[in-house]
Amino acid sequence: MPITGSPERPGRDERPGRDERPGRDERPGRDERRRGPILTAFAPGRVNLIGEHTDYNDGLALPFAITAGVTVSGGPARRPRMISVEAADLGERDEFELVDPGYAPGWRAFVRGAVIELQSAGYALTGAELRISGDVPRRRGLSSSAALEVALCLALLGIAGRAVTDRIALARICSRIESEWVGAQTGLLDQLASLLSSWGKALRIDFRTLECRDVPLRLGEHRLVAVDSDEPRSLRDSGYNARREECRDACSRLGVHSLRDADLERAAQLPPPLDRRVRHVITENRRVDQAIAALTSADMGRLGELLNASHASLRDDYEVSTSAVEATVARLLAAGALGARIVGGGFGGSVLALLAPGAPLPAGAMELVPGAGAQLL
Ligand code: GLA
Repeated sequence: MPITGSPERPGRDERPGRDERPGRDERPGRDERRRGPILTAFAPGRVNLIGEHTDYNDGLALPFAITAGVTVSGGPARRPRMISVEAADLGERDEFELVDPGYAPGWRAFVRGAVIELQSAGYALTGAELRISGDVPRRRGLSSSAALEVALCLALLGIAGRAVTDRIALARICSRIESEWVGAQTGLLDQLASLLSSWGKALRIDFRTLECRDVPLRLGEHRLVAVDSDEPRSLRDSGYNARREECRDACSRLGVHSLRDADLERAAQLPPPLDRRVRHVITENRRVDQAIAALTSADMGRLGELLNASHASLRDDYEVSTSAVEATVARLLAAGALGARIVGGGFGGSVLALLAPGAPLPAGAMELVPGAGAQLL
């Protein structure tokens, strides 16, 4: 893997924090403080209001950042070419050379991948000591992985004194970390949502042009919640990759570059299940703009209908639901939700529900408040 950015060794005078002299009472074990200002990067998880399995089909989506996310704090390392990192929630550590760290599985793959992919993209990094912690539930379709990639990149860049000028380019780097180092295919939905969302707003993303536009998420007294289906993840990655493959197959049969260019009439002539897969993508794209219209006119009943229609399409046409997810959706609708649907890649994970004013929070529900995009705190 080419490394275009050469690691820079800061000179004595350039070391960040040189003005912060250690106080007498600061004993050696607390030397992290003495090395300089601690930088903290936060990146949120996301929930996709509507527009599922459309990102890798050049389609539309409407995600928003949630308030839960991953925090990476740290500062320059004593040894300029080393990265040391602590995964605080797991009680584990890693340490490796800035150049050529090699591969390590699990959370370490994200850190090593971030270091290499940033350098490959031309960012010169410096050694860093990092601490990772987070409160976004893992493996529930809430993009804890994207939050981790994004927070790591912001922290590494911040410590190296590099400004992030192009957040879309950074989203692509984060997506490469996931595909090349963690081995999971993703579109750009999760990374863009984490990097570009704003408080109180959803983000309409057009994946053909990567044009992103804020959409105020005004729900009045209504509430959005996520409820875990408790489904094990076994099928999730393989099922996700299989759907992407089916979409590629449908494109080549239809002679189109992406399913954004497909139409319902011709899709109906494809052999099953490709006909249904394409129908989901086409109708889901339409539902994104219909949901924006419902939000704009504060028609929460209509928004609920669209969530239900999205779920039916994901269940029947895209076939990414499971019995545990169906039971969760049924439970939420029976409790009076205006709409409920599976979120994220599917095959388990969380269910999103729109609750009417005053409706009690269902058991195990996490209330979703649209939060800020990733930032240095
Ligand atoms: C996962 C992927 C996203 C997107 C969704 C489905 O979350 O990471 O890129 O494809 O599934 O909408």
